[in-house]
Amino acid sequence: MGRRKKKKIIEKVEITGIADKGKSVGRNQEGQVVFVDKVVPGDIVDVLVLRKRKGFMQGIAQTIHKYSEDRVEPICEHFGVCGGCKWQHLSYEAQIKHKALVVHNAFRRIGKIEPEEGFSPILSAAETSYYRNKLEFSFSNRRWLTSTELSDDSLSNQQEVLGFHPPGSFDKIVDIQHCHLQGGISNELRNTMRELAIEQGLAFYDIRSRAGMLRHMIVRISSIGETMLIVSFFENDQEKIQGYLGAIQAQFPQLNSIYYCINPKMNDFMMDLEMNLFHGTPWIEEQLGEVRFRIGPKSFFQTNSLQAARLFDVVAKFADLQGTENVYDLYTGLGSIALYLAKHCRQVVGIEEIAQAIEDAKDNMALNEIDNAVFYAGDVKDILTTDFAQRHGKPDVVVTDPPRAGMHKEVIEILLELAAPKIVYVSCNPATQARDLSLLAAKYRVVKSRAVDMFPHTHHVENVALLVLKSAEV
Ligand SMILES: C[S@@+](CC[C@H](N)C(=O)[O-])C[C@H]1O[C@@H](n2cnc3c(N)ncnc32)[C@H](O)[C@@H]1O
Repeated sequence: MGRRKKKKIIEKVEITGIADKGKSVGRNQEGQVVFVDKVVPGDIVDVLVLRKRKGFMQGIAQTIHKYSEDRVEPICEHFGVCGGCKWQHLSYEAQIKHKALVVHNAFRRIGKIEPEEGFSPILSAAETSYYRNKLEFSFSNRRWLTSTELSDDSLSNQQEVLGFHPPGSFDKIVDIQHCHLQGGISNELRNTMRELAIEQGLAFYDIRSRAGMLRHMIVRISSIGETMLIVSFFENDQEKIQGYLGAIQAQFPQLNSIYYCINPKMNDFMMDLEMNLFHGTPWIEEQLGEVRFRIGPKSFFQTNSLQAARLFDVVAKFADLQGTENVYDLYTGLGSIALYLAKHCRQVVGIEEIAQAIEDAKDNMALNEIDNAVFYAGDVKDILTTDFAQRHGKPDVVVTDPPRAGMHKEVIEILLELAAPKIVYVSCNPATQARDLSLLAAKYRVVKSRAVDMFPHTHHVENVALLVLKSAEV
């Protein structure tokens, strides 16, 4: 019989910071980096090493010798179980301090960049609870039990539940009673939908045997109080669907829009399914600054409306538009930044790969009586060419807001060739932003940078940087 290798414990590691993907980090006595889960900067802990790699180790805290002074009592009963809001036990002041540091470190270590005017203070969130406008919950006939509940023999996990998948569990769901991420009727709606489904005898989805009626629900609530509900069913049983949605509508007459879809697929993805309008308007409305948006069931929209408007204000301030500029908005989504800026420039040109989002952008343009915007669907790397710039005029300002992976190398090359006097780079991943800025440094100076907190209690941080062409005046 082989002998089990004894796990290594590193004693009294002081947690000093938070690294790129939100993991807490400290060092052992030899100075090697140790990543530790579920602790916060300021804690002193013994670490049980689970994984050793070249240059770093990963582990979990076995004993906590000292709790950080930045620790606070989490507000949520589901904290540490549902997998969301991982930083709720860290004071908000400490959260934003560490988010700002993540940006500074990425700029300095990856990009070797120091903005000429320094880093502006991080823009903290105006609301740290109930800030999301969209949440998705899953129905399941298997409940996730906490370690305390597991030791209670009277509890079975065969229960009808509605909530979130905890990390690493594909078949069990944490039964959410109250979620602090979405306000309005969200909590009451979810809890009532669970009760109504049980009352009506509807089967909650069983992912293992692929059976059951109810799969998911999505709630969208705009900052002006309009609400959309989308329910996905496994089976197209119209009698049950109409009965269930009718009962929900009767209890929540304030719902502006109710959709349903049928998802018989293996995967949970709903955005490739036909959306059927059961009640109300085909969209809900949202207001960011002066711009009104219509959001359909499949539209991508920034999930924190209040903070999105403040993020776009930082973009507008960095762009410093005088009314005469030709602005390109790359990775435009449904045109949110483009439409936000349109009234302050001569023309805005938006590019986005999702065709439906471009249709939404055009509808929103008409809704706001904006006539100086044009939108194109396709990959930025294919659409943005020198020919395209000749047809639409060379850009004076480029706003770019790519996904987490950052910009494709070919996009950076064409941006260097187009040499717009200013680039405003919005990013949700400071590491790839820093990488792209260092490539753009061939022609650009990084003048300003400001981080914005869009997602309190998570490690996510948004950052806006202003780049100015080396030969251009600010
Ligand atoms: C971070 S979001 C920004 C959306 C928008 N600026 C906003 O604030 O709502 C990135 C967007 O880029 C789009 N996208 C991702 N890869 C793309 C590509 N290669 N070409 C064009 N658009 C892309 C995504 O569909 C998404 O809408």
